[in-house]
Amino acid sequence: MSLDLNALKKSELHIHLEGSLEPDLMFRLAKRNGIALPYANVESLRAAYDFNNLQDFLDLYYRGAQVLLQEEDFYDLTRAYLDRCRAQNVTHVEPFFDPQTHTDRGVSMATVIGGITRALKEAKAEWGLSYGLILCFLRHLSEDEAQHTLDAALPFREHFVGIGLDSSEQGHPPSKFKYVFARGRDMGLLPVAHAGEEGPPSYIWEALDELGVVRVDHGVRATEDPDLIERLRRDQIPLTVCPLSNIRLKVYESLKQHPILDLLEDGLKVTVNSDDPAYFGGYMTENFEALRAQLGMTDDQAERLARNGFDAALVPTT
Ligand code: HPA
Ligand code: ZN
Repeated sequence: MSLDLNALKKSELHIHLEGSLEPDLMFRLAKRNGIALPYANVESLRAAYDFNNLQDFLDLYYRGAQVLLQEEDFYDLTRAYLDRCRAQNVTHVEPFFDPQTHTDRGVSMATVIGGITRALKEAKAEWGLSYGLILCFLRHLSEDEAQHTLDAALPFREHFVGIGLDSSEQGHPPSKFKYVFARGRDMGLLPVAHAGEEGPPSYIWEALDELGVVRVDHGVRATEDPDLIERLRRDQIPLTVCPLSNIRLKVYESLKQHPILDLLEDGLKVTVNSDDPAYFGGYMTENFEALRAQLGMTDDQAERLARNGFDAALVPTT
């Protein structure tokens, strides 16, 4: 009998709440808010989930997020994700949210953070979930806009523990956000950043040395730079790796080419995560199952990967 990967206790450190918006909820919220979607039904929406790269995906992801308007919408989105966590024994989460995707459409920061935190608090009270919320800046926008976003979030400072960097990576190096990250760090916010998903290893170096990140999101292109691998191993900098995402966005042609288990065996602190589960075909259990089916992940490796998810957490876990 092999290990039950669904029952295995897990921690998720790389999940965009907006990326957990399942097609049926997207349609339900569109109807509730009187928004027309350019798809006839759930099936035709799902059929559009065929991406050649990160930007292809982001175009759909931002369009999908337009159905989120009211506090209740952000609550429903987060609650649905947390219900999946409970069903998959994911007992700790550190989700990202992208305030600019919403505030740029006239939705208030209070609406966004209010809905998300209501669901998180409820899950903590109902079944003991532990969590830390991470506010992400959109890197295709300017550093000034990121600074304004941080200003707008300050009244809600107690509701998030970290700052992150996501969206279109190529051409938007971490160094572009040096000052806003310095300001966030001074406020006690823990810095993380997407780096080395599509971008080069130099972006991972910049995230470490110019943003001071305590964890790298994706980071898989570190494999191209032996000195960087040595740095990540020496400092035990966690990488939040997202196997199914990397296949859907064609970072690798197939999971068989994915380096996650080699990185684990090389002594790096790698973790398994779903990234945007509604778009990439799976939550935590499905990601672990794919690694077993396609890469021959052993039970011992699964247990070490799951444990790394707790070791790499920003805040205490249950
Ligand atoms: N990469 C960058 N930005 C994102 C992603 C991702 O995988 N998902 C949602 N925003
Ligand atoms: Zn991501």
